[in-house]
Amino acid sequence: MKSLIMYISEHNGNTKKIAENMALWLNADILPIKDLPTIELEKYDTICLGSGIYHGKHHVEIFDFVDRTNFKDKKVIIFSTSGTGNKKNNILLNDKLLLKNAKIIGEFTCKGFDTYGLFKWIGGISKGRPNSMDLDRLYSFCEQVAKKNEK
Ligand SMILES: Cc1cc2nc3c(=O)[nH]c(=O)nc-3n(C[C@H](O)[C@H](O)[C@H](O)COP(=O)(O)O)c2cc1C
Repeated sequence: MKSLIMYISEHNGNTKKIAENMALWLNADILPIKDLPTIELEKYDTICLGSGIYHGKHHVEIFDFVDRTNFKDKKVIIFSTSGTGNKKNNILLNDKLLLKNAKIIGEFTCKGFDTYGLFKWIGGISKGRPNSMDLDRLYSFCEQVAKKNEK
């Protein structure tokens, strides 16, 4: 499979850490979403889409990208980091992608250092995340995805 990782990570670089390791372990190309106009999606059969969670959902530019993209015959992996690490934060993007006929083949979520708003006054929450345990879990996730795609 040929995969492309697309991500936005504008708070503390937490999602960038996940995206870069995912690219390494899936042997995928990687692109911050701001470089979008240059991209040829036809080359890829799997698109991995992720960002931090901002007010309960992925970054608005991820949704805009999904809106204007044709996902026919594309497999999609959703990923996110957030202060709480709650998987439910992926639901809105998941639903939007299903409406666009994307085939979702995996989802990865983990905690990310969060210094937004009042949290900065207590030094932030989820300090040090993503950490080495999160990356171990990511590695296993990537292995599973790669295996599934071999079949
Ligand atoms: C404007 C803003 C809103 C946020 N809203 C949430 C939220 O609703 N739920 C949550 O768990 N974390 C929230 N966070 C924390 C981020 O999701 C978390 O720090 C994430 O890892 C940031 O990823 P990034 O460093 O890749 O941008 C918010 C952070 C910011 C800056």
